Amino acid sequence: MVDLHSHILPNIDDGSKSMEETLKMGKIAESEGFSKVIATPHYIEGEFTLEKEQFLSVIDGVNEYFLENEVNIEVLPGLEVYISPDLPSKLEKGEILTLNNTSYVLVEFPMNSVPIYTEDILYEIRLLGYKPVIAHPERYIEVMKNPNYLKDLIEQDNYVQINSLSVTGVLGQKTKKTAEILLKHKMVHFIGTDAHTPRTRSPRIKEALEQMRKWVGNEYVEEIINNGRALIRGEGVTAPQSLTYKPDRGFLYNIRKFFN
Ligand SMILES: [Fe+2]
Repeated sequence: MVDLHSHILPNIDDGSKSMEETLKMGKIAESEGFSKVIATPHYIEGEFTLEKEQFLSVIDGVNEYFLENEVNIEVLPGLEVYISPDLPSKLEKGEILTLNNTSYVLVEFPMNSVPIYTEDILYEIRLLGYKPVIAHPERYIEVMKNPNYLKDLIEQDNYVQINSLSVTGVLGQKTKKTAEILLKHKMVHFIGTDAHTPRTRSPRIKEALEQMRKWVGNEYVEEIINNGRALIRGEGVTAPQSLTYKPDRGFLYNIRKFFN
């Protein structure tokens, strides 16, 4: 399997703090069934940016270290890019690393509110020939409140990656519930761990896949796993027709509405 989202590189962002932590994360990833991990450090203007050459040499170093320590994981280049009005021009200038040098770009939104320019920026990125992959939308308040916001973005040909740790509830119950809604409404194309440490936010996926199979069945889960393999080869992926989310306005909703 391929982990499409990981902060496994040491001392680059808020992920791994040392080569030892990176090694531990690699060992966990291997035991969870991964063979490839795309390193996706944060790229946030003014906070986390890094030189391409320096970044690629860190990846080489980690791959060598894994080889020496018999960890069978290949680390590939990528970034988790925070959405900003400059993103299209930075991509055009070749300043942004895509996922394994394909046309797929992992894009992160702010947790609390999605900027009004989001749709326009994603449109411009697509015009340049890139395929935006929205990182962990189940964590965004906008999507929690209105999952159909994501359906619109998918219909504009953007892709969606959820976190395995959201599915298992490590990132909170609301996030877990939103991941379930997104999966049940076929609004998910990819899964990644978004691992930051060898501890709580570690590169685990097995338990998440089990939970997902209970929610949506084996076929869709296999599609999501295979999409990861297709992505790193730069191939097209399976994108099912998303379903409109209709909030369950049951007994409790009416009670709350009565009292508000
Ligand atoms: Fe991340």
